[in-house]
Amino acid sequence: MRWDDEVGRNARGAPQGAGYDGGALEDQQLFLPDTFPPPAAPVPVPPSSRRAPAPPPAANVVTAAMPATPPAEAPAEEEVVFEVLPEPLEPLVEAPFVGDPFEASFVEAPPVPPVDLPVGKVVAVVNQKGGVGKTTSTINLGAALAAEGAKVLLVDFDPQGALSVGLGLNPNSLDLTVYNLLLDASVTFDEVVQHCKMDGLDLIPSNIDLAGAEIMLVSEVAREQSLKRALARAKDRYNYILIDCPPSLGLLTINALTAAQAVLIPLECEYFALRGMALLMDTLTKIQERINPELEIEGILATMLDARTIHGREVLSRVTDAFGDKLFKTIIHKTIKFAEAPVAGEPIVTYAPKSGGAREYRELAKEVMSR
Ligand SMILES: Nc1ncnc2c1ncn2[C@@H]1O[C@H](COP(=O)(O)OP(=O)(O)OP(=O)(O)O)[C@@H](O)[C@H]1O
Ligand SMILES: [Mg+2]
Repeated sequence: MRWDDEVGRNARGAPQGAGYDGGALEDQQLFLPDTFPPPAAPVPVPPSSRRAPAPPPAANVVTAAMPATPPAEAPAEEEVVFEVLPEPLEPLVEAPFVGDPFEASFVEAPPVPPVDLPVGKVVAVVNQKGGVGKTTSTINLGAALAAEGAKVLLVDFDPQGALSVGLGLNPNSLDLTVYNLLLDASVTFDEVVQHCKMDGLDLIPSNIDLAGAEIMLVSEVAREQSLKRALARAKDRYNYILIDCPPSLGLLTINALTAAQAVLIPLECEYFALRGMALLMDTLTKIQERINPELEIEGILATMLDARTIHGREVLSRVTDAFGDKLFKTIIHKTIKFAEAPVAGEPIVTYAPKSGGAREYRELAKEVMSR
């Protein structure tokens, strides 16, 4: 089937064909309730072996590993501990934003936040297609919003833990992650949240444990409400909560869509860009009808555009025709800086603040704030 045939089918909302999305559709049919869910029930405590002994309060504060600014009168030997920059391609660093990320003055002196920022607006970053820029967009939109003065929480809701890695954490070394927050009622939000070096940016990390949560949640009452319940008490501390979803439409993504008020859909500007979009739109409609009537499409974000090629420009033109004003005006172009920044464990807006990619995510942040 030609790509533009596919677009025509999508525009009419016809279901997608077989392939990757077929499995996702099964997930969706498995997990979506037929009616509105019953009222939220208390979250049962999972087997105690899943939870490590509670760490001391500072242990989950990523910034604890950062060189603190010493008092002027402190002894010389305690004054400064210089962080050593990681070797290129060393995958993990001890703390987010280590190194010399602050080329831009906006990071050192965050602007006064705009007065009309929303409180506790939850945005799920969703696309069941893999590698389209969900994690990259979550990190960099979050950092750009924080640079504008917003309080931002990023939720890594993918067992791959790429968001956590991209912010410099080693997810496998963490005792408490979003998994514990979902399934252990005795674990508090404050025990799990990590405070990034960048002002106003917090993270709920994830690791491979979350893959088990998808199975354990199946037997829960109101299983699609688990993330919403977990975030409820801390929601109002933030202006924006961005959830980085896994590449599927399974129970984790359904949880994110149930907790969210808005959906941001990254769409890679390549030949198969629109494959699966009809299924995603269909899933969003079902969530709106059955679980979360407030859910809206925040916008579709064209990512990884290579504007030097005719192909890239053609795909963008098709995407614009298909989605019209649902498409963000900001387009994210392809640049190698996006691959380099996670290796340094920081967002592109601090790693390469003068790059085109950083500028684009700052523009996106302004668009999001103006909606
Ligand atoms: N604008 C861009 N230009 C070049 N490379 C990019 C861009 N955005 C993302 N990438 C790279 O593409 C790859 C996939 O991006 P990312 O991990 O954000 O996608 P994803 O949708 O979260 O993937 P998954 O579905 O596996 O979670 C990464 O290596 C990332 O560095
Ligand atoms: Mg990802």
